[in-house]
Amino acid sequence: MTVFNVAEERNQTPAVKSLIHFNNAGASLMPNVVVEGMKNYIDSEVSQGGYETARDFAKELDLFYDHTAKLINSGSNEIAFVESATVAWQRAFHSIPLEKGDVIITCVSEYASNYIAYLQLAKLKAVEIVTIPNDDNGEIDIQALESAITPRVKLVSIGHIPTGNGLINPAEKVGAITQKHKILYLLDACQSVGQYPINVEKIKCDFLSATGRKYLRGPRGTGFLYARQETTLGLEPLSLDLHSAEWTDLDSYQMRSDAKKYETWESNLSAKLGLSLAIHHLNLLGIEHVQERITFVANYFRERLGALAHIQVMDTGNIKSGIVTFINEKNDAEEVMKYLFKNKVNVSVVVASSSLLDLQDRNITEAVRASVHYYNTIDEVDKFISLLEKF
Ligand SMILES: Cc1ncc(COP(=O)(O)O)c(C=O)c1O
Repeated sequence: MTVFNVAEERNQTPAVKSLIHFNNAGASLMPNVVVEGMKNYIDSEVSQGGYETARDFAKELDLFYDHTAKLINSGSNEIAFVESATVAWQRAFHSIPLEKGDVIITCVSEYASNYIAYLQLAKLKAVEIVTIPNDDNGEIDIQALESAITPRVKLVSIGHIPTGNGLINPAEKVGAITQKHKILYLLDACQSVGQYPINVEKIKCDFLSATGRKYLRGPRGTGFLYARQETTLGLEPLSLDLHSAEWTDLDSYQMRSDAKKYETWESNLSAKLGLSLAIHHLNLLGIEHVQERITFVANYFRERLGALAHIQVMDTGNIKSGIVTFINEKNDAEEVMKYLFKNKVNVSVVVASSSLLDLQDRNITEAVRASVHYYNTIDEVDKFISLLEKF
């Protein structure tokens, strides 16, 4: 049972009156509380200056760490604010000392930017990439993962919810293995934070990267990194500045001991406040209720799409997310997106290069991605289906 009021959430999301937004895996619509908070912050910068506003809002800005920690059950000192999931992921990844012959384990549904980073390190440092196959459900095969562990494995790095597939990888089962073998575990939670409950104590990951604009409903250009204090304390980010470290003597510096060592001094503070407000808003609604609502709408969506003769739903996985992908046999994905956009419906297109192994594995060159959030309705899905029937 959804306990929050969907109608009220829609009232706080003005665009839903004039369009159907099924592009939440791209960027979801920000609630009024986020937009107003950011406008207010910028107004203050305009009237009294950027540094002066930062001083005025110091307490509010600091709450970002508490709200985020609450959402994922971490310590506030284990959170860094950054510009995107990619920045969070790269800062974590490049702080891990990997050498020739070390093995990085990943999964079939890995995101392109992450895989490109493995390939780059394979080229520069001769590390080895091992991709664990999927099980029959399309999720990372846990037994194959366990069998692939050798003393050379230095990192297990996987995506939780992929960019172009409705599946949810069993992040906790992966964490049980990495913990048992004392291997670092980096989880790309870009598409899962905000739509699926994340508890880093249960997942047992050492790093978790996330973005603000997708399921968290924050502004663009925001993200965060979780870095487990206990296991990442000794790691040094590839580049440091006067915020992540202190210049203590002419030939020495002292790096910070908390996750802020992954930040830089300058950042977009109105956006940071916006993300903080978005996460607080989500905490008030309750991620379990949000997940329940998203699952309800997405399952109904897949059911209705599955009944259309010319549509093939492409999602794999035992448990599914709010990301619904499908192929329209009559038109290519780009045409479908343009047609829907003309009819005031937002979706996006998944192309093979965004998650090459996964899409090649399933023989897909491109698919339509309709990603739902808790503010979407059954009525919107019905309108979507009747538009597809006419196309
Ligand atoms: C699974 C996954 N990981 C990482 C990213 C990168 O996120 P960002 O664009 O915020 O860097 C995306 C973006 O779509 C994604 O879907």
